[in-house]
Amino acid sequence: MRYDADMVEPQVEPVRLEVNGIERRLFVAPHRTLLETLREDLGLTGTKHGCELGECGACTVLVDGVAVLSCLALTLDADGAEIVTIEGIGSVSHPHPLQRSFADHGAAQCGYCTPAMILTAKALLDRDPHPTDREITEAIAGNMCRCTGYLPIVRAIAAVAAEDRP
Ligand code: FES
Ligand code: FES
Repeated sequence: MRYDADMVEPQVEPVRLEVNGIERRLFVAPHRTLLETLREDLGLTGTKHGCELGECGACTVLVDGVAVLSCLALTLDADGAEIVTIEGIGSVSHPHPLQRSFADHGAAQCGYCTPAMILTAKALLDRDPHPTDREITEAIAGNMCRCTGYLPIVRAIAAVAAEDRP
């Protein structure tokens, strides 16, 4: 019997995400990753595509407040979740304190790791507003940076942690 791919119904399922405070309803294939959905379906390219193996951390986003590697997460598993990407935490005119501090401390050079670093740092500061340098270093251990040598990143996060914020 002849197999005709065009005759096969695409297998997609509905999913509802709240992305940066906006409800998004989509139909996605079961194998579609959250990284693919964010970048390719929703156009949120601030989330970076790196190794796709869970090794570089560049694809980190927040899912219900937890830093998650979106290349390893299936979109369907995020049904009903609140997703935060770098586009959702600040803007050029109103940067998040971490974005401002990264700029002030030279913690972003090529910038490829920066969205994930900032979101990882945000997850840390949300659960522990005043971490030690060691705790900061441990929190970003899964995020690779090939440019900065990491010290400016730790300093940038520590500077925000030292601020007297609500
Ligand atoms: S792209 Fe996800 S960990 Fe590298
Ligand atoms: S600033 Fe280039 S990889 Fe981190």
